[in-house]
Amino acid sequence: MSDLNATIQKTHNGFAVTGYEKLDYNFAFINGIFSPSNTQLADCYKKWGRVLIVLDMNMKKLYGNEIQKYFDAHNLAVSFHAMPVGETAKTMESLLDICNSMTNFGIIRKEPVLVVGGGLVTDVAGFACACYRRSTNFIRVPTTLIGLIDASVSIKVAVNYGNYKNRLGAYHAPLWTFLDFNFLKTLPTAQVRNGFAEIIKISSCADLKTFNSLDKYCEQLIETRFGRIDGANEEVRRIADEICYDAIFEMLKLETPNLHELMLDRVIAYGHTWSPFHELQPSPPLRHGHAISIDMAYTATLALDRSMLSNEEHARLLNLFSRAGLSIDHQLYDNAAIEKGTAAILKTRDGSLRLAVPSPLGSCEFVNEFTVQDLQRVLKVHKKYAAGFARRGDGIEAYVDASDTGLPTPASSNKSASGHSNGHNNGNGVTSGHLNGVKRAAPVQDAHGANGGIDDLVNEAMPVQKVQA
Ligand SMILES: NC(=O)c1ccc[n+]([C@@H]2O[C@H](COP(=O)([O-])OP(=O)(O)OC[C@H]3O[C@@H](n4cnc5c(N)ncnc54)[C@H](O)[C@@H]3O)[C@@H](O)[C@H]2O)c1
Ligand SMILES: [Zn+2]
Repeated sequence: MSDLNATIQKTHNGFAVTGYEKLDYNFAFINGIFSPSNTQLADCYKKWGRVLIVLDMNMKKLYGNEIQKYFDAHNLAVSFHAMPVGETAKTMESLLDICNSMTNFGIIRKEPVLVVGGGLVTDVAGFACACYRRSTNFIRVPTTLIGLIDASVSIKVAVNYGNYKNRLGAYHAPLWTFLDFNFLKTLPTAQVRNGFAEIIKISSCADLKTFNSLDKYCEQLIETRFGRIDGANEEVRRIADEICYDAIFEMLKLETPNLHELMLDRVIAYGHTWSPFHELQPSPPLRHGHAISIDMAYTATLALDRSMLSNEEHARLLNLFSRAGLSIDHQLYDNAAIEKGTAAILKTRDGSLRLAVPSPLGSCEFVNEFTVQDLQRVLKVHKKYAAGFARRGDGIEAYVDASDTGLPTPASSNKSASGHSNGHNNGNGVTSGHLNGVKRAAPVQDAHGANGGIDDLVNEAMPVQKVQA
């Protein structure tokens, strides 16, 4: 919700308007948001007597009944808009479909739409709300780890457009974000790893205590989906809650002074320098968590080379990625990728590398002075380190599948821990067309994005899927 205060003055040939917008949005941690005894969400809709809910088809299948029962228990009529799953549905068509549902529902001015889902749904539906009647209220319930600790912490909403990721978007704050970590219980492990990578990012650059907890409890956190599966150890659950609370707080402290992303030296860009280019190189593309963990691990080796990290810190960091099943290297992460990725990010970051580097662990420095030759020399060193880790630095379930793209995935495409997920045991690499026979073209860089290179790329060959409501 925002509020604008403005003053108007006469000038010699016109008027000058100066305004300050007040932003006001809240987060609440809730255990079991759809348990009928939790009234906070229902209270938001009492005055309207009904609720329009946007979610994706997976979430409708998994949680539709529970959501329906919750609102039935509170005598609130429910209308669902279930959108298709995956990045191929992050389109204007999906947005317009949501707008149509808002019209059919007859949403009243100020009545908030309820958006339940991962970053994809909260981005698309949030943008629909930003556009509808120029601004419509919404309430956000994130359901993935990325959603809980990243996408729903920001007020950025967007769809992909014209082969570019998040090319059309807005800054639109919800009335409320309700954070319920119980959703992680049903989240596939591969999606948990994606979020884990983002928490390593934030903690290694800004919060040593959280990094130490990730390091101590890594395997248990992932196995128990942050302490949320039945029978999970109480201590792990408590630590998981503490980690997520601190990660969200850290993210808010870092990003709220820069809500419109005008500052380009961004701590949260650690791991997001070469990854936007590299993420889309393999076919199928890497999962976001793996692309950024490769970038973070390599950046850590650059920091080691500059004595910005000690041997011990470097080993600790790489070991954590490896233990989490995240990738620390990839066959296609090579000299050419570094060169192209560097050229692309320099455009986005106003001509400077602005490389966010953990130094020492738990805090961040920015480095500009690497030549491409430096970068390529250290890449060689990095590959030697990576080869010494489990799976030779490959990740587990490293590639996107139907749950990320919305496209059917051939059975062969998601090789995991057993060996060749990142192409190291596969002389042919991983470049053949897996994505439903879709041949991939070169990724396109957003040259003007102000967001430090995060989220700017999209697989230009990903077809737009017909959207069904
Ligand atoms: N706005 C931002 O600041 C921001 C930040 C990070 C990412 N993003 C965007 O978020 C998107 C990725 O979001 P994501 O990683 O959350 O993935 P997602 O929303 O695509 O969800 C991943 C998969 O998990 C399923 N799912 C969601 N919640 C579930 C649950 N509780 N149990 C079982 N399955 C569940 C979904 O149906 C989907 O198949 C990208 O488009 C990215 O650009 C935005
Ligand atoms: Zn990211």
